[in-house]
Amino acid sequence: MTLMHPKLLLHHTPLLFLLLLLNLSLPLAHHLPSNSKPGCQTKCANLIVPYPFGIGINSGCSISPLFDINCDNSSIPPKPFITTTNYEIVHISDNQVRVKNLAAARCYTESGIVTRQNIINMSLASTPYSFSTSNKVTVVGCDDISVFGSDIGKNFTSGCFSVCAKKSDITDRSCTGIGCCQVAIPKGLKNFVAVLISTFNHTWVHSFNPCGYVFVGDEERFQFRIWDLDDESFQNRTTQDVPVVLDWAIGNGTCDRAKKSADFACRGNSSCVDSDTGLGGYRCNCLEGYEGNPYVSPGCTDIDECENNPCDKHATCTNTPGSYSCSCSNGYSGDGRKDGLRCTAVKSQFPAIKFSIGLSVGLLSLFIGVTWLYFGIKKRKLARMREKFFQQNGGLLLKQHMSSNNGGLESTKIFSADELEKATNNYAEDRILGRGGYGMVYQGILPDRRVVAIKKSMIMDQSQIEQFINEVIILTQVNHRNVVKLLGCCLESEVPMLVYEFISNGTLYHHIHNYGEISWFAWKDRLRVAAEAAGALAYLHSAASMPIIHRDVKSSNILLDDSYTAKISDFGASRLVPLDQTQVTTLVQGTLGYLDPEYFQTSQLTEKSDVYSFGVVLAELMTGKTPLSLTKSEEERNLATYFIISIKENRFFQILEPRILREGTLEQLQAIGELANRCLNLKGEERPTMKEVAMELESLRRYTKHPWIQQENTEENEALLGEQSGLSSDLYAINVRPESSIRTYPALDSLDGNVIYPR
Ligand SMILES: *[C@@H]1O[C@H](CO)[C@@H](O)[C@H](O)[C@H]1NC(C)=O
Ligand SMILES: *[C@@H]1O[C@H](CO)[C@@H](O)[C@H](O)[C@H]1NC(C)=O
Ligand SMILES: *[C@@H]1O[C@H](CO)[C@@H](O)[C@H](O)[C@H]1NC(C)=O
Ligand SMILES: *[C@@H]1O[C@H](CO)[C@@H](O)[C@H](O)[C@H]1NC(C)=O
Ligand SMILES: *[C@@H]1O[C@H](CO)[C@@H](O)[C@H](O)[C@H]1NC(C)=O
Ligand SMILES: *[C@@H]1O[C@H](CO)[C@@H](O)[C@H](O)[C@H]1NC(C)=O
Ligand SMILES: *[C@@H]1O[C@H](CO)[C@@H](O)[C@H](O)[C@H]1NC(C)=O
Repeated sequence: MTLMHPKLLLHHTPLLFLLLLLNLSLPLAHHLPSNSKPGCQTKCANLIVPYPFGIGINSGCSISPLFDINCDNSSIPPKPFITTTNYEIVHISDNQVRVKNLAAARCYTESGIVTRQNIINMSLASTPYSFSTSNKVTVVGCDDISVFGSDIGKNFTSGCFSVCAKKSDITDRSCTGIGCCQVAIPKGLKNFVAVLISTFNHTWVHSFNPCGYVFVGDEERFQFRIWDLDDESFQNRTTQDVPVVLDWAIGNGTCDRAKKSADFACRGNSSCVDSDTGLGGYRCNCLEGYEGNPYVSPGCTDIDECENNPCDKHATCTNTPGSYSCSCSNGYSGDGRKDGLRCTAVKSQFPAIKFSIGLSVGLLSLFIGVTWLYFGIKKRKLARMREKFFQQNGGLLLKQHMSSNNGGLESTKIFSADELEKATNNYAEDRILGRGGYGMVYQGILPDRRVVAIKKSMIMDQSQIEQFINEVIILTQVNHRNVVKLLGCCLESEVPMLVYEFISNGTLYHHIHNYGEISWFAWKDRLRVAAEAAGALAYLHSAASMPIIHRDVKSSNILLDDSYTAKISDFGASRLVPLDQTQVTTLVQGTLGYLDPEYFQTSQLTEKSDVYSFGVVLAELMTGKTPLSLTKSEEERNLATYFIISIKENRFFQILEPRILREGTLEQLQAIGELANRCLNLKGEERPTMKEVAMELESLRRYTKHPWIQQENTEENEALLGEQSGLSSDLYAINVRPESSIRTYPALDSLDGNVIYPR
């Protein structure tokens, strides 16, 4: 998902040509000239340290102590480190610093016992550095999931999974989920923790892949090779070969603000550039035609271009500040430049100039014409392809459906692109409701004042269009009060857009995990929402004309309306399953933490995968814990596993949210815990059907509390807790939620958590 599609690259080729032809140079990475402050050490071993960096802690050689470089000469050769950290610098450029990697590994025995493991925990807090987006989180392994997250500034968890059943499935140099997976990191990241977890502890793949690896590093410096999977030195090799790229900037303000301050760092003949990390700060660049270190007084110096004579042999070169000029000698005319019109003898002046101007104009128009034609043809081809694709995906069928007024589709409207543009105030930032792997969701207000949610695909890419059309087809077949209603769509714009009823109260995820800001979501409401969601899924699995598997059941896909009624959303990944088939083979798709391990391993999709994911939602509702949590101990990291183990070891009541213990009855909680446990069974066959789950939840919901029952149960609860865990009833009053220290950032979660890979 992070790789540029080769087609896209191809698409840009003519543009690149144009740029080259017009002699516009593309920005290249520059080395800072090696000026250090006078009297300061300029090199630490082989690393040249230019100002504003300086060698020695508090030596005064750098612009501020934050830019000090600790040259540790206790080793031979000495090693340069970023001040106060143990990150070893390998290169410094005018906008980035590269440091040695800290790859992590997790190794197993044949029977799945962990023999060695480490995690990566890097922090650049209170340094002028942040992790560059040139880095990717990369996992190498055949049964490995990375969980990657941060809690300074950006609170989020993401990750990717890498699997393979046999060596022959793996493609060399391809990091797309088979043996290797990669995810992007957000801009301006200051710290992260990356850990590895495994579904089957490598027991299926141990013969060719005994360890899983994770690292964060320069994407361009790593290429996945099959032999990496059983290379014992992989971790050491990566540490050496794949640096971590850091962006750096001075201060935390903008250029405009810095220019007014006394310690503005950009010297003469340089310009100030704002950092693009979102953290503030700036850097300096020499003006065009100047060179040198822009941070060192008096600043950049003029380049003497005449040194490598850029003029025609009949011209003389004169250097000017920031530029140069060529003047043709007597009897010649022209601009005198080697890369321009050169000098031509006066006699032939007119025809020659005419000819050359005519030729250039002619060539240019030809070129523009060809480019235009190229893009025109490409566009038409694309339009044709889209149409064909649209037909393939039932788009025409859809249109027919919509134009004929039958089958509950009367309300589905086709909107024009203008209407939606107006409704969203031209897709204004403040109208964004959410982002995900599919694109963006905006809030829109229709002319009749109706508030709607508009889903717009971010990049126009065929797989995304397919997901959109898929969602329309599925939703037009569904009419259920607990499924979000599709009001219409817009097919005439570049990217198709879907218009839904607006669901005002956010996602179930927010209500479970964000309290403190939102009021406590009571147990009886949780139970009702669970029963409603289960009912809707059961309906999708059985009652609809063709069974529908949702494939991405999670608490952030369960929306709540003003009366807190559940509405299932996001059918982009869903599949219609023909009645005569009980399972289909697909690309594995879903979200980390909710994904059915059986589906994950076999890529055989059945309704039971939704049952598993729903089991995770039930566990979430009861424990108030997120499905994946970095801050937790290994045992607690994956909620599904932790939940099953806790039940097995009779510690079930200890992992429940304390307030839920108070609000629910013991029998009810136990029964629902059991139900969730059955949903989370590793074998799909042994899980209940969604219909059974829905019926059971409905009947348990009816099992309402009476005052005397509550009292009896509270005593019973206490007795039980006392006996099993020695916890006192104080527990009931505690509202502390330790996991609130890492909050999942839903945008990133759904963006990077949805990893698709082909089988
Ligand atoms: C190591 O560095 C310290 C302080 O920077 C200096 O005093 C010492 O002479 C250095 N030692 C060597 C062997 O260069
Ligand atoms: C990462 O390191 C920081 C500081 O060194 C520490 O506070 C934090 O607990 C560590 N996180 C993990 C998950 O080990
Ligand atoms: C994997 O290993 C961990 C740690 O050794 C262990 O707790 C867990 O039960 C193992 N899981 C499987 C499926 O073997
Ligand atoms: C990796 O490096 C460590 C420390 O430098 C060393 O102890 C270990 O033997 C190396 N492992 C391999 C497989 O080379
Ligand atoms: C920015 O830097 C200044 C000076 O270093 C400091 O006083 C200020 O608190 C910083 N502001 C922020 C928002 O970090
Ligand atoms: C910029 O460079 C020119 C020529 O090299 C020099 O005369 C001028 O003083 C410089 N400007 C500043 C602000 O240093
Ligand atoms: C991230 O979590 C930490 C600890 O709970 C909190 O202090 C910080 O404000 C959070 N940051 C954001 C952007 O929510």
